[in-house]
Amino acid sequence: MLPHQQIELKLQAAVRTVLPDADVAAVLVRPCDAKFGDYQSNALMSLAKVRRLNPRQLAADTLARLDVADLCSAVEIAGAGFLNFRLKPAVLAQTLEAAARGEHLFFDRTAAPRTVVLDFSSPNVAKPMHVGHIRSTGIGDALQRTLRLLGHPVISDNHIGDWGTQFGKLLLGWKQILNREALRSDPIAEMERLYQAINAECDASPARLEEAKAELVKLQAGDPENIALWQEMIRLSQVQFDTIYSRLNVKFDQALGESFYNPQLAAVVADLLARGLARESEGAVGVFSDGTLPPREDPFLVSRDGEWIPDPALVRKSDGGFNYMTTDLATVDYRLKTWAPQEIVYVVDDRQAGHFKKLFDVFARWKPEAAKTTKLVHVGFGKILGDDGKPFKTRSGGTVKLGDLLNEAEERAFQTVSEKSGDLPEAQRREIARVVGLGAVKYADLLPNRQSDYIFSWDKMLALQGNTAPYLLYAYARIRSIFRKSEAESALRQAPGAIVLAHPAELALARHLLNFGLTLEAVAGEYRPNFLCNYLFELAGQFTGFYENCPVLKAEDPATRTSRLALCDLTARVLKLGLETLGIETVEQM
Ligand code: ARG
Repeated sequence: MLPHQQIELKLQAAVRTVLPDADVAAVLVRPCDAKFGDYQSNALMSLAKVRRLNPRQLAADTLARLDVADLCSAVEIAGAGFLNFRLKPAVLAQTLEAAARGEHLFFDRTAAPRTVVLDFSSPNVAKPMHVGHIRSTGIGDALQRTLRLLGHPVISDNHIGDWGTQFGKLLLGWKQILNREALRSDPIAEMERLYQAINAECDASPARLEEAKAELVKLQAGDPENIALWQEMIRLSQVQFDTIYSRLNVKFDQALGESFYNPQLAAVVADLLARGLARESEGAVGVFSDGTLPPREDPFLVSRDGEWIPDPALVRKSDGGFNYMTTDLATVDYRLKTWAPQEIVYVVDDRQAGHFKKLFDVFARWKPEAAKTTKLVHVGFGKILGDDGKPFKTRSGGTVKLGDLLNEAEERAFQTVSEKSGDLPEAQRREIARVVGLGAVKYADLLPNRQSDYIFSWDKMLALQGNTAPYLLYAYARIRSIFRKSEAESALRQAPGAIVLAHPAELALARHLLNFGLTLEAVAGEYRPNFLCNYLFELAGQFTGFYENCPVLKAEDPATRTSRLALCDLTARVLKLGLETLGIETVEQM
C-alpha cells in the first residue's frame, strides 16, 4: 500500500473514534504545496462544519488519536483546520525501492471499481473526419486508458451518426449524379459533394426537397435498394474512420451507431406518452418542463423577450420521424440493460450541453430507479481556433480534414527531427517523426482545460521547449540514452540496491514520483487529462533539476550511482506510462 493510502486509513480510523457517526469515505489526503508538507487533508473542516464544531479543536482531537510516526516526520494543524503531513525520507526511499523492484509504479488499482460506458468520437457517416474530431477522440481515449489503468471496467462505444434526414439527400444524389470514378478514388469527398449539391438544390426547389424526402421515407420503410446503398455509404465511411483510428491508435469495444436503436424508438415514445412524461404539441411529441427547477436552471425553458417559453425535448416529429433525443434515450436504456454501468460518460463538445442537460433530466424522470445508481456525465470541451481567434480553417477557408492534419504533423516533425538528428537513417527519422508529430497534436489538445477554446499553433506544439509532447518525448529519450551509454542497465537490473535520497533535488523528484497515482485518480475523477499533462511536465522539470545537480554515471561511489540510476529508471518508466495513458507513444532515441 502506498504511503498516502496508509495515512488515509489511519486518519479515517482516528476520525471514527472521535466522531463515531461520521462517514469517513470522504476523509482523504491530497498532495499539497511542498511548503506545507507532502499531503494535506481538508476533510475535518467539512465534518466540523456540519456538526457546528470548532474545526481546529476537531483537528487537535483527531491528531491525539492519530499515530503515523512510522510514516511521517511531522503532522501539523494549519489554517482553519487543515492537517499537513510530511513523509519521512526513509519512507520515500522504501516506496521507491519497492517500485524499483517492480512491485508498483506509484499507483494502485482501485478498491472500488465502477463500470463506465464511455461514448466518444462518434463522427457522422459520409463526411470527412475534421480537426474537431481530434478533441472527442483524444480526450475519450485518454479517459478510457486512465480508467482501465486504475482497474475500472470500461465499455468504449463509438456512437456513429449513421442515420438521419441527410440520407434522403445522399440517396437522391447517389442515384442521379454519382461520379463512379470519383467515388473510387475518394469516396468520402464524393459523398460530401453529393450531399452538398443536393442540399443546395433542395434549398432552392421545394420539389427537389420532396424527392429527397421520398428517398428517406423509402429508406425508413426498409426499401431493399435504399438499404443496400445506405449500407454501402456506411461501409465506405467506416474504412475512413478505421484508417484514422489506427493511425491514432484508438480502439473501441463497441461501435453501435444511431441506426442500431431504430427498432426501439417507437416504443420509447409510446412509453414516455403512457407514463405522462411526454405530450403532443402541434403534431410533434415532446417532454416539457415539470416546473421543479427555477426557470433559469430549467433546460426545458428559454427566455424570449423577457418571457420564459417552453423548449421541450422533442422525441417525435410531426411527420412521424424520431429525433436525436429519442435515439439517445433508447441508447441509455440499452446501455443500462446490457452493462448496468455506474456511469455513462459523453465526451461531446460544449455546443451540445443543452441537449445533454435535457437528456439527463428526461432520464431521471423516465427511469428514477436507475438514476439512483447510474450517473450520466457530459464531458464537454471547447473549440479549436485559428490565429485569428475564429474556428480553425484551411487557408482557403475550408474545414481542416483530420487525415491531412496528421500528415502535416508528421511532415513538420520530420523537418525538426532531421535538423536535430540528421545522422540517423531516414527510416528511423520517419518513425520518430510519426511519434512526435501525432504526439504533438494529441498533447496540444489534451493540455488546456478542456472547456476552454485553444489556438492551434504548429510552432507551439512542435517546440522542443515548453509544455509540449516533443519536450516530454525528448526528456524520456534523454534518460534512455543514459542507459545506452554504459552497462548501466544491466548493472541496475542485477543489483537494485538501496535508494538514498540525500540531495534536495533527489527528494523533490522522489516526492513528485509518488504523486503519479493521485494524479491518475484525479484525471479519472474529474475527467481531466490535463492534470496528467501538467504532472508529466513537472516531472520532466524535477528530473532536470536532479540531473543537473546530481552526477549519475560520474557519481563517486557505486552505491550512489545505482541509487541515482534507479531514480532515472523510475522517472523514465513513469514518463512512458504517463504518455501512453495520454495515447502518446515514445521513442528510445530522438
Ligand atoms: N454524432 C454526433 C455529432 O457529430 C455526436 C454523438 C455524441 N453521442 C451521443 N450519444 N449523442 O454531433
